[in-house]
Amino acid sequence: PIMKYYAERAKVPVALHLDHGSSFERCVQALRLGFTSVMYDASAKSFEENAEETKEIVKIAHAVGASVEAELGHVGQGAEYEETRDAGLTKLEEALKYVEETGVDCLAVAVGTSHGVYKGEPHLEFELLDHLSKEVPVPLVLHGGSGTGDENLAKAVRTGIQKVNLNTDVSEAGKQAL
Ligand code: 13P
Repeated sequence: PIMKYYAERAKVPVALHLDHGSSFERCVQALRLGFTSVMYDASAKSFEENAEETKEIVKIAHAVGASVEAELGHVGQGAEYEETRDAGLTKLEEALKYVEETGVDCLAVAVGTSHGVYKGEPHLEFELLDHLSKEVPVPLVLHGGSGTGDENLAKAVRTGIQKVNLNTDVSEAGKQAL
């Protein structure tokens, strides 16, 4: 209710978005509370399970005028960056099939970023991102923006990313200020 209060009074358009919805129930609760978009994150599951479950949420969200983001490939944790980065990268063919099967409104892709503080240097796959942005018919989202560096983020946006998620850097700044 607090977020809705301020969103309705803001001078710019505001989206009230659930990030990393962890279950069907969580997403439906958010929709009922008035969120304008939800992310359902089944990226740790198999392609089939991820697509099947996401499709259900898309059906329900669209029925009440909300949009859905989902993740294919897996953006892992920075602490495990060096071990998990490569296995999680999004595959173009799968992304095309996934968007067609689920009807999602935007897609979070794994192109070399990770959540939280990076162990090692962030290394982004701009060529992969370029292919994804040219072929995938919905806007692409970049998770794990913190610590990725302004230059990498700017280049990611120039290469087709339309939403950048930042948490750790913002939370840290808040903690410091407190
Ligand atoms: P960071 O905490 O790495 O910025 O990641 C945020 C994020 O992707 C939230 O979905």
